Amino acid sequence: MAVVTALTKSLGQHCAKRLKPSIFPHKFPSNHSQCQFQILRTLILEPSLSESVKLHRLPDSDSGIVEVNLDRPGARNAIGNDMLRGLRQAFEAIDGDSSAHVVLISSSVPTVFCAGADLKERKKMTASEVHSYVNYLRSTFSLIEELQIPTIAVIEGAALGGGLEMALSCDLRICGENAILGLPETGLAIIPGAGGTQRLPRLVGKSIAKELIFTARRIGGRDAMSMGLVNCCVPAGEAHPKALEIARDINQKGPIAIRMAKRAINEGLERDMTSALDLEEECYERLLNTKDRLEGLAAFAEKRKPRYNGK
Ligand code: COA
Repeated sequence: MAVVTALTKSLGQHCAKRLKPSIFPHKFPSNHSQCQFQILRTLILEPSLSESVKLHRLPDSDSGIVEVNLDRPGARNAIGNDMLRGLRQAFEAIDGDSSAHVVLISSSVPTVFCAGADLKERKKMTASEVHSYVNYLRSTFSLIEELQIPTIAVIEGAALGGGLEMALSCDLRICGENAILGLPETGLAIIPGAGGTQRLPRLVGKSIAKELIFTARRIGGRDAMSMGLVNCCVPAGEAHPKALEIARDINQKGPIAIRMAKRAINEGLERDMTSALDLEEECYERLLNTKDRLEGLAAFAEKRKPRYNGK
């Protein structure tokens, strides 16, 4: 409440009303009120895409960082049809936005990142409807994976089934120690159908992926870190500031270089070494005639921070 009071005083009633802790609980961790206050002050709210997915673009020095926020508390962010449409729209909007340089996917629901597919909606679907839903979910996660810019999943609490598959389609995963990650599908007599059987083994290896999928075991943040399933495990409540710190770091780099680096890594890993090195050359060539490359060299010579504009 102290933070809310400070907000009310400093921002006026209008902003404070829009930024209640129940809406952005991860922005109010007790020991991060000062640094989070700065974020709240500058957050720009986009028109709502769906009831349960919000798209925010951070302005000022954070311009270029975009946040997709999941907000369906009653169903623990389970992905129903409305949320799936919202996710699709959000990532299509980001895909077409050349001013976006890095994306965070976060939850405003305490203790949950995403509970996966909506099992209540699923129960009412015909087999054909399930087929369409799963294909749409899979292609939406492929869209996330194929975005040209880096994506970071901010995992506080449960990331299960489709929730973990969404995180797996991101480039980086940052979790709190309270995270619970798992693919429970075999316990429901199905398999992960939105990329989980393919992305998990590519990340943690075949053997560990098989163990997790065959047993449907849920693991904590520290174990996920030791398996290489997440990049970083921080104390509970600190995943968002940590992810934002990484996003800011990326946001200061040459934007075309970041896109080319992602392309070289993602596409190169699917090729043999000779062809992968050809791809690296192609990506490097794309950078040779950019103004940003010359700006990087000039800034180094002049002992100052570079100012990149993505050209
Ligand atoms: N689909 C639909 N509804 C879901 C859901 C899902 N995947 N996960 C949770 N909910 C609903 C619950 O049914 C409950 O609804 P109710 O209030 O009408 O009973 C509500 O969300 C709260 O769930 P609850 O289990 O009480 O919350 P929790 O905070 O104690 O636990 C989870 C959260 C995510 C750990 C737990 O809900 C869970 O394990 N969910 C299932 C996840 C799963 O198996 N996903 C795989 C899908 S393939």
